[in-house]
Amino acid sequence: MRTSDIETAVGVLRAGGLVALPTETVYGLGANAEDAAAVARIFQVKGRPPSHPLIVHIGGAEQLDDWVEEVPATARLLARHFWPGPLTLVLRRGHRVPLEATGGLETVAVRVPDHPVALALLSAFGGGVTAPSANRFGAVSPTTADDVRAELGDAVDFVLDGGPCEVGVESTIVDVTGDTPAVLRPGGVTREDLEAVLGHPLAVPATSSVRVPGQHPSHYAPRAHVVLVEPGKVVAEAERAQELGHRVGVLLPPAGAGVPVKAHTVLEVPGSMSAYARGLYGFLRELDQRGCDLIVASLPEERGLGLAIANRLRRAAGPRPS
Ligand code: TXA
Ligand code: MG
Repeated sequence: MRTSDIETAVGVLRAGGLVALPTETVYGLGANAEDAAAVARIFQVKGRPPSHPLIVHIGGAEQLDDWVEEVPATARLLARHFWPGPLTLVLRRGHRVPLEATGGLETVAVRVPDHPVALALLSAFGGGVTAPSANRFGAVSPTTADDVRAELGDAVDFVLDGGPCEVGVESTIVDVTGDTPAVLRPGGVTREDLEAVLGHPLAVPATSSVRVPGQHPSHYAPRAHVVLVEPGKVVAEAERAQELGHRVGVLLPPAGAGVPVKAHTVLEVPGSMSAYARGLYGFLRELDQRGCDLIVASLPEERGLGLAIANRLRRAAGPRPS
């Protein structure tokens, strides 16, 4: 990444254009958060319903007060511990944030990304950058600059290449507008880490609570259909589907590593949850690229980053819009 790339990206943002930017979680499709027309273009490019709110990315926790109405003590505590990092806080919307960015909500999601290129961009730009993941609506999030180009092509004005994303799954979203913090989406900051800082247990939804009426449960989805079975049944289910004529892609859990499987493509899943999270979307993309029409996988144990991985796999396996 060159300094001139940051200057180019800032110029594009100031002119109302769209910049794809690396973060530690996934690549984002960014616009000047205060430019309602640029924000509207994000929705158009993604094919995302306008009621589906975006995250405003800022350069540091000290800027939080500029973007929200009030900052409860819990929000300050979480920001102090986890920013920069994969945690998004939902707070009451400040007047700088256009309703276009919040899908009409009076709350706004804010985070400080932990990526040197994103932070350099935010610092040089000076304002907030509103950015959803840089994929078409419902599809797998991009974790490399090449993924972004494959997803969005010329629809994005400039792609900042910051290498592959370290975390690989999106940020954890915590709503801090109520009496007790509510996790809306599990992600890169684990429940255990949040609970350690808050000092009390948190409930985490098995599938994300998305505030959009009528939204389909399928999300983070490859083209191939995803079938989830018990870890011990992955091989048998894959072979059964392959015999039925499917081109089966397998995400083989560590317990089955080394076992020969009669399927089209077999990818062995890393045993470490951070390695699995980092690779997850790349695996799903690869199985699509190899022409698989069915993916057989199992859920990891739902603790630590396993919770976010399981959430994304469940949603990838959810019913599709017809
Ligand atoms: O890691 C991430 O969070 C990545 C990177 C690019 O920062 N971004 C991301 O954005 O995942 P997106 O748009 O794909 O997902 C944002 C989620 C949506 O599910 C949306 O419903 C939720 O944040 N959200 C945004 N504003 C909200 C609000 N005011 N209240 C509740 N949920 C909100
Ligand atoms: Mg997304």
